[in-house]
Amino acid sequence: MVSFVVVLLVVIALIAAVINGENSSIKRSDFPDGFLFGVSTSSYQIEGGYLEDGKSLNNWDVFALYPGGIEKGENGFIADDHYHRYLKDIEIVQSLGVDAYRFSISWARVLPRGRFGEVNPNGIMFYNKILDELVLRGIKPFVTIFHHDIPQELEDRYGSWLSPLMQEDYVHFAETCFKNFGDRVKNWITINEPNLFAQMGYQNGIYPPARCSQPFGYCSAGNSDIEPLIVMHNLLLAHGKAVRLYRKDYQSEQDGLVGIVLNCIMYEPMTDDDLDKEAANRALAFDIGWVLDPLIFGNYPSEMRKYLGNQLPRFSVAESNYIRDGIDFIGVNHYATLYAKGCIHSSSSCSLTGNRSIKGFVDFSTEKDGVPIGESTGIDVMKVVPRGIGEVIEYLNKRYHNKPTFVTENGYSEPEVQDQVPIILHDDKRIEFHKAYMSSIAQAIRNGADVRGYFLWTLMDDFEWNHGYLLKFGLYYVDRKTLNRIPKLSARWYQDFLINNTLASNIQLAVS
Ligand code: NOJ
Repeated sequence: MVSFVVVLLVVIALIAAVINGENSSIKRSDFPDGFLFGVSTSSYQIEGGYLEDGKSLNNWDVFALYPGGIEKGENGFIADDHYHRYLKDIEIVQSLGVDAYRFSISWARVLPRGRFGEVNPNGIMFYNKILDELVLRGIKPFVTIFHHDIPQELEDRYGSWLSPLMQEDYVHFAETCFKNFGDRVKNWITINEPNLFAQMGYQNGIYPPARCSQPFGYCSAGNSDIEPLIVMHNLLLAHGKAVRLYRKDYQSEQDGLVGIVLNCIMYEPMTDDDLDKEAANRALAFDIGWVLDPLIFGNYPSEMRKYLGNQLPRFSVAESNYIRDGIDFIGVNHYATLYAKGCIHSSSSCSLTGNRSIKGFVDFSTEKDGVPIGESTGIDVMKVVPRGIGEVIEYLNKRYHNKPTFVTENGYSEPEVQDQVPIILHDDKRIEFHKAYMSSIAQAIRNGADVRGYFLWTLMDDFEWNHGYLLKFGLYYVDRKTLNRIPKLSARWYQDFLINNTLASNIQLAVS
């Protein structure tokens, strides 16, 4: 009798776990037919070969030389040496069993002097070889045109994205890509995370060109309230021009789609108070709507226009017409869920944090009443909150009428810096992380969202911007001395998930 009761309780607990979505046995078949699984990388973070075969210095090469910009004074000069090892890397990508691979083109490798010089044939050849190899192996390329790296000459000549001149340079770069690579690329991404790029480079000043004002930091120049808005304006117009060009001159022949990728933080209200609910909505509008409202509806969100007034640049009628309806799909990079608290009526806290302008008079926290929103990862604001990805997808779905969406990045880095290789390789937390986030996406799809793919960030440990090589997001560990790639347990899990579609618990660690 006792044992019967125990069995019954276990069964009830299991059913409850399934209902609560705690069942980690996510399967490929939980996603619709044609759903693409992939991995993502970016040029500066893996390529190296920083002055090879005609590539010029870019903004990160130069920034890396400033003392204090990057942990341990690291840089991407060699990075993962993908420039020389790309063939082997593509073999690894294929061995995972993915459908698609997302990578970016180094602007300074293809156009070392922007539109002030010639196209570099070696740069074109490099990406041609990558594309040919992917196509040969049946892997769909998703190509990001601009992922944070800019030829330094464009910064030096006219201040890059602070100037409207950058729109012409960007369009020239994009067209060079369409012309040379477009026969094999069916999914283009114009810009990676313009919202984060504008914030990090021009509000916080921790990415190049390191511009900011108080209270964000002690940059040598900049204006944290105004410049991110100008930079975004130029990014959006550049995107719009490139998309129009693609649709006019290339799309009918090349038959590709063009999207943009955003950094999609989910904001939840700190309390049930209406002011906090409004704050969370405002934060979403200022962060996501800032990019997508113009590209879908032709103007900045009403929330931004209301609160920022003349500070916010304006689109002319002609501009509004050519940026509107300017994306075929939305790319979601998701790494964080934060609590939002309005500070619109308490100017003191907003002025201390500086969260006016692009932060919409909202303060943020990873804790409520001292309780963290989720488990820690390697980056302070990125806690593990699987529900957040489903919530942000549902927000996009509602606001943008179920536009096709790809999760173009989602990834986990461990909270402690670890130098014991066997421990690094035994990354069960990464596996649990992806399983939980995938479950949340599968649920959003069941609720009606048009999500078409999941790209895991990232293939291998790489140059993680200001964190250098300390933070690790990869499925593969890269030995910094030999640059050998070694699969972590998560690589085996992903492979198993994609190819065998069985439970991860069966996997044994190959290397220990
Ligand atoms: C998003 C960025 O696109 C990527 O470059 C970065 O490495 C990841 N976030 C992790 O921080």
